[in-house]
Amino acid sequence: MTGLPFPSVRGESRAPEGTVGLPDQLGRVARDLRVSVTDRCNLRCRYCMPAEGLPWLAKPEMLTDDELVRVIGVFVGLGITQIRLTGGEPLLRRSLVDVVRRVAALEPRPRIAMTTNGIGLDRLAQPLADAGLDRVNVSLDTIDPQEFADLTRRDRLHDVELGLKAAAAAGLAPVKVNAVAMRGINDHSVGDLLQWCLDRGYELRFIEQMPLDAQHGWDASTMISAEEIRERLGERFELTPLPAADRGSAPAERFLVDGGPFTVGIIASVSAPFCAACDRTRLTADGQVRNCLFSQRETDLLGPLRAGATDEELAALIQGEMWRKAPGHGIGTADFVQPDRPMSAIGG
Ligand code: 5AD
Ligand code: SF4
Repeated sequence: MTGLPFPSVRGESRAPEGTVGLPDQLGRVARDLRVSVTDRCNLRCRYCMPAEGLPWLAKPEMLTDDELVRVIGVFVGLGITQIRLTGGEPLLRRSLVDVVRRVAALEPRPRIAMTTNGIGLDRLAQPLADAGLDRVNVSLDTIDPQEFADLTRRDRLHDVELGLKAAAAAGLAPVKVNAVAMRGINDHSVGDLLQWCLDRGYELRFIEQMPLDAQHGWDASTMISAEEIRERLGERFELTPLPAADRGSAPAERFLVDGGPFTVGIIASVSAPFCAACDRTRLTADGQVRNCLFSQRETDLLGPLRAGATDEELAALIQGEMWRKAPGHGIGTADFVQPDRPMSAIGG
């Protein structure tokens, strides 16, 4: 295929004969598939993309609904039990409700979650829930309208608030809120965001900013670390760590806030990576399998699929990609190289 805006090395490798499911060479097994259903977005978050946006994928380069549902079905056949729909902004895919309905009809039915910026969710939360969506994570970094407009370069805070309300009303519980703190933009208002979420029963999680922006502007020295978030929240709330045993492969370290029952999560994706317990795999909107956010390689399914590959052949390609999964992302090491594809074209 030509014209891909973010060329990555494509390559195949094979898992050993007789491999069942999606193991890698370190014994990790993928059960959680993140599907980017579009690379487009209606926000321009500073930690993600430049003001002018990005060269979006053209429609012929993207999996059609039939292709997408077929590939997800192959993943489910390989032991995937949870599907997370992401983007870009997943709600921008017009057929999303129908895709959810078709994924919910797969056997065995996977759990279906979505990560969204919340714009348009006021209208779509109920139809999506009716179609089989189980849970949502809404990205919201601040509840200050000025900071929101500064960080996302769009004045849409009100739409996100409406979207969150609609998600709760549609029973997409627990409604989770994902936040990234950026120095000098929203780092001083993290406590206000937590209070706002506590008041509404949303479960807030902070994520350390990762080097996945299209502009390659990430800088370890300006990143707000998990430790710093914890200190800042600690100035205003009493945080009691929950036992790590409750964590499993979930990356968030969770804290009871002021004795509970509500909690806040802090995800130290950079400073304390959870790669050793990772159970994720990823499918891009143009049909590439990625075994890691930070992978330098990916395996093309779109070409083989359109050339008539069988489900068994697609399954072998997916298994091969997972088999070569690296031990960790290596951010901060001398030979770390940021992937060509930005977050918005991989999916969160
Ligand atoms: N680092 C950390 N989180 C990011 N997100 C987007 N880009 C980055 C980044 N560079 C978040 C979004 C959303 C989820 C998909 O990932 O805010 O919550
Ligand atoms: Fe859009 Fe998400 Fe990137 Fe923000 S972080 S611009 S909401 S894709």
